[in-house]
Amino acid sequence: MSISYDENERIFKLDTKNSTYAIGVVDEEGFLAHIYYGDRLREGQVGSLLRTDEPPFVPSVNDRDRVSFLDSCPMEYPGHGLGDYRESCISVRTGNGSSAVGLQYVSHKITAGKTSFRDLPSSFGAEGECGVLEITCEDRAAGLTVALQYGVFDDTDVITRSVRVCNTGKDAVWLTKVYSACLDMDDQGFEAISLHGSWARERQMQRVPVSHAKLNVESVRGESGHQDHPFMALVTPGTNQETGRVYAMHFVYSGNFRVQVQSDQFDQVRMVMGIHPEDFCWKLLPGESFQSPEAVMVYSGTGLSGMTHTFHDFYRKHLIRSPYRDRKRPVLINNWEATYFDFNTEKLIEIARQAAALGIEMLVMDDGWFGNRFDDNRALGDWFVNEEKLPGGLAYLADQVNGLGMKFGIWFEPEMISPDSELYRAHPDWAIAIPGRRASLCRNQYVLDLSRPEVRDYAYEAVASVLRSANIAYVKWDMNRQLSDLGSAALPADRMGELYHRYVLGVYEMQERLLREFPDLLLENCSGGGARFDPGMLYYSPQIWCSDDTDAIERLKIQEGTAMIYPLSTMGAHVSACPNHIVGRVTPFETRGHVALMGTFGYELDVTALSEEEKQMIPQQVAMYHKYNDLIREGDYYRVASYAENHAFDCCGVVGKDRTEALYLYVQVLGRPNCRSRRIRFPGLAEDRQYRLEGEERIYAGELLVKAGMNIQDLHGDFQSRLLHFTAV
Ligand code: GLA
Repeated sequence: MSISYDENERIFKLDTKNSTYAIGVVDEEGFLAHIYYGDRLREGQVGSLLRTDEPPFVPSVNDRDRVSFLDSCPMEYPGHGLGDYRESCISVRTGNGSSAVGLQYVSHKITAGKTSFRDLPSSFGAEGECGVLEITCEDRAAGLTVALQYGVFDDTDVITRSVRVCNTGKDAVWLTKVYSACLDMDDQGFEAISLHGSWARERQMQRVPVSHAKLNVESVRGESGHQDHPFMALVTPGTNQETGRVYAMHFVYSGNFRVQVQSDQFDQVRMVMGIHPEDFCWKLLPGESFQSPEAVMVYSGTGLSGMTHTFHDFYRKHLIRSPYRDRKRPVLINNWEATYFDFNTEKLIEIARQAAALGIEMLVMDDGWFGNRFDDNRALGDWFVNEEKLPGGLAYLADQVNGLGMKFGIWFEPEMISPDSELYRAHPDWAIAIPGRRASLCRNQYVLDLSRPEVRDYAYEAVASVLRSANIAYVKWDMNRQLSDLGSAALPADRMGELYHRYVLGVYEMQERLLREFPDLLLENCSGGGARFDPGMLYYSPQIWCSDDTDAIERLKIQEGTAMIYPLSTMGAHVSACPNHIVGRVTPFETRGHVALMGTFGYELDVTALSEEEKQMIPQQVAMYHKYNDLIREGDYYRVASYAENHAFDCCGVVGKDRTEALYLYVQVLGRPNCRSRRIRFPGLAEDRQYRLEGEERIYAGELLVKAGMNIQDLHGDFQSRLLHFTAV
């Protein structure tokens, strides 16, 4: 186990394979100071790094400058309102109106292995793989204990962070802010990498200098969102895929979040991550606790690809639970872009018949199969089959599809309620809304108040009874609007600030129930495309719909940003028809297939309307998926060239863990006149091995491919792509 406590020095040392994290208990009062995070230290006294022997010293030596101490010491989990003027991690409202919190060390506990939290998605690991350090601190005046929780994963370079706050006093306390992690360090000239976007262009990369102004990446939308992502990486100047120091945080949570960084007056940076404090206020009665979600911290001393590999390995091993995690997923065809709302049993069966003949393995029926849902203005909440569209019901349709040798999947949007629905007419108070104020519509729908158990029970039963009624192998769980008009008919006024978080807990509870009742179900989360692509959802579903934008060229950027943190096996990616429905672009069918191959792979088009030439390519693409998916799902991902950066071409690849096989995708975005070949290097291959490139007889030295590369000839034309598959000989 790689967690130790030096009683004399009063220093905790947390070691992973390549990183060390150190915390010190400081002064008689037991302040917790951050000492070091970075490359693994095997020897040496990290205590020498504490600046307690220089002004302003510690309060027991110089109490007249206590504020100066609090405002400059690198804090492990800074309190509020007592003299540390940098961003605080926790604040409260107590009976006497005070908001202050100051934490002092009381005790600690070190245990082997890690289990997930009860009501929140979180990482897990066996005894030989990880351990947990829990440092209990207290604030007697506020009547609180705060347990700082650290999961230390020896086998990946991850330290998870979270806190549990307990009201140990005699009166109620309202938590008004509770972040999960803080990292105070000397500024190393950091830049901050984050992901931003919008519908149809999720997770675009941004890199900006860290400065003395606060940089906030945040969501107050009730979900993680298209617009921002609960992730930030601080990188040293010049960091690229191969070199540089990277300090990253990613939040295992699907609701409002904030990640912030700022350099202070002494050029020390503070980076924090947690639930967004806006509109958050959680009432804790005496004896009650609040568990914060988990932040995943990664340190890489080997640039961005080191960070990416750590996140991928960690999520595959310690967060995703689905039995499909390590399995090929059936190649699906989804009817959304094929038909939108205009379909019936006959049409679906025709799509399935032709798709089955081409080797496609599952039909997914998207939005529009229930209630009065002929368009997107109505019927959310009425989860009973529309017999006009689907005579004979679901069981008949599923049987027919199964009879073709295909699995059957279905779309739901369980968190929503349309004003024009039987559900809303029966229970108008089930929608989230502020009494006396007309709630704002979005896509003509409201959000169900999932903080209420009876609403969750209804929504759960609605989904589960459909799943019980037919042979359904897959569910696409969608969420097509963000939260507004925060009000619940069931929560008292002094608990209304709990609604955002209770909503998220409600979603988690429903998905947990679903997986418990249907353990073999393949669940894919989705939110108006990729608005809830976050580690929280990965705990429930092994794949998430990446974006409604299925254009192969737009996807290069979306998938680059996503794959920087998430395994390729989690990225929902489909081949769709051209001209593309969102950007109107026409790209070759082959390129669309190659780009989707780098995700889960499937189709989203009307196969009955394809040209013969395109149809003939489908069996080849399905075979390609089966040939390469094990490698793509389990290998190490490398970003070789970025179209988002160079505006000309893209290249990424996956190398098997044992380096015997690798697959790279090269996409030439625009054709070029009068040009020479492009030289591309292939990181990740073993330098001491020889490789054969599929389709050629020639043998290439690994060293040559890694260090010098290979000349890739012009592909002639726009939006052309090429797969390069290497096998060791
Ligand atoms: C969202 C999803 C789409 C589709 C529609 C249906 O936008 O991202 O894939 O399911 O909803 O309304």
